[in-house]
Amino acid sequence: MSNLVILGAQWGDEGKGKITDFLAKKADLVVRCQGGDNAGHTVELGDQKYKLHLIPSGILYPEKQNIIGNGVVLNPKSLINEIKYLNELGISVDNLKISDRAHIIFPYHIEIDKLEEEARGDKKIGTTIKGIGPCYRDKVERCGLRMCDFKYRDSFEKRLRYNINRKNDLLVKYYGVEPLDENKIVKEYIDYLNQIEKYIVDTNTLVKSFVKDGKKVLFEGAQGALLDIDFGTYPYVTSSHPISGGVPIGVGISPLDLKQAVGVVKAYTTRVGKGPFPTELFDEAGDIIREKGFEYGTTTGRPRRCGWLDIVMLNYSADINGLTSLAITKLDTLSDMDKLKICVAYELNGEKINTFPASLETLADCKPIYIEMDGWKLEDIEKAETYEQLPENAKKYVEKIEELTKVPADIVSVGPKRSQTFMRKELL
Ligand code: GDP
Ligand code: IMO
Ligand code: MG
Repeated sequence: MSNLVILGAQWGDEGKGKITDFLAKKADLVVRCQGGDNAGHTVELGDQKYKLHLIPSGILYPEKQNIIGNGVVLNPKSLINEIKYLNELGISVDNLKISDRAHIIFPYHIEIDKLEEEARGDKKIGTTIKGIGPCYRDKVERCGLRMCDFKYRDSFEKRLRYNINRKNDLLVKYYGVEPLDENKIVKEYIDYLNQIEKYIVDTNTLVKSFVKDGKKVLFEGAQGALLDIDFGTYPYVTSSHPISGGVPIGVGISPLDLKQAVGVVKAYTTRVGKGPFPTELFDEAGDIIREKGFEYGTTTGRPRRCGWLDIVMLNYSADINGLTSLAITKLDTLSDMDKLKICVAYELNGEKINTFPASLETLADCKPIYIEMDGWKLEDIEKAETYEQLPENAKKYVEKIEELTKVPADIVSVGPKRSQTFMRKELL
């Protein structure tokens, strides 16, 4: 049985899309388990860049099954746009299925996301304004609508109209804005759902059959551990569980079915949105990383905040996820820097600590304690065709991360393309 979970080990955008696409070549099935179109996963094939938000990164292989699981919150309009975008690039989505239990994002979720962000003033979370939080909130409040509800048109329409009216009360009476156009939303969304209905199935049974038959299944995480609603830097987090614990819930399998967890780790740290970030760089080094690594959000285009690699955070993430391997990405971005730093502990009130605090006030008081490593040249990275051929100092950097985390770096990535990936151990 080889079921493998691919997770963001930091604050998202670690390169999960690239690693999923790379590993998918050996897989039978690729499944998204949580999040929604707040995710932006980039896969590069030849000269073409594919930007995926909802559709799993296994979609570029026509013979692999791809599934959007029940834990995902799905905006039908976004999905249709993504399908069109892929079709125009010559990619078919005939190999896609959507869970009948997935919750649907409606325009009122997006509107509320936007208004709540505005109301937060300088305490903004920096959400992607895709309606993710408000949709998960409705799921928990038990007033959400799921894909399976669309089968019963009359009750679907009734429930949708009821929800729009309740949300319009909130928009008008509390936020003092114009109500949303009930009839327009109902008409548009019935049309969108008609278009995607053919993809909706009982994916839980389907995934289970792949698992039972011993097929190779990849579970593609979105976001990252530090954005987890319980374990991330709350409240500057997303509203789902982007950790291995979220996978069984997000697809409907037993936790005991998960065999391997690969944490995708950028060779440094980035984050979009607000919240404390102990190793954040405000100097030239941060700008160099941002420009060389092209650190701008796939979904929102926002510049990403950049900093050194943080091992306290990474060890916390490795423990929560039970990581069995690391996939270290963007090693090439750190090239041509004389000295590199890795944060190995925090100093808090004169004491050295190795644990990641729950309180953001405490985290903001943590000062990183760094070790320094020697750099390497980009041209030497570009010449390498195997891990062994990487510059000595680049290998030392990777091996230092392994030593500090006690997790093997089984995959090392030195560029966005499939060919720029070194597998140090076969994982599937
Ligand atoms: P994801 O959300 O975790 O899938 O990551 P994103 O796609 O949002 O951001 C990662 C970016 O880095 C994408 O543009 C990738 O094409 C790119 N990328 C992935 N791995 C590497 C790498 O090893 N080197 C470089 N230079 N770029 C990479
Ligand atoms: P991928 O899968 C990076 C961040 C947002 C914000 C917070 C909450 O591409 O790694 P939300 O819209 O989810 O309510 O926003 O979470 N965020 C991400 N940051 N990568 C992502 O996805 C993200 N998805 C959400 O910037 O800080
Ligand atoms: Mg991304």
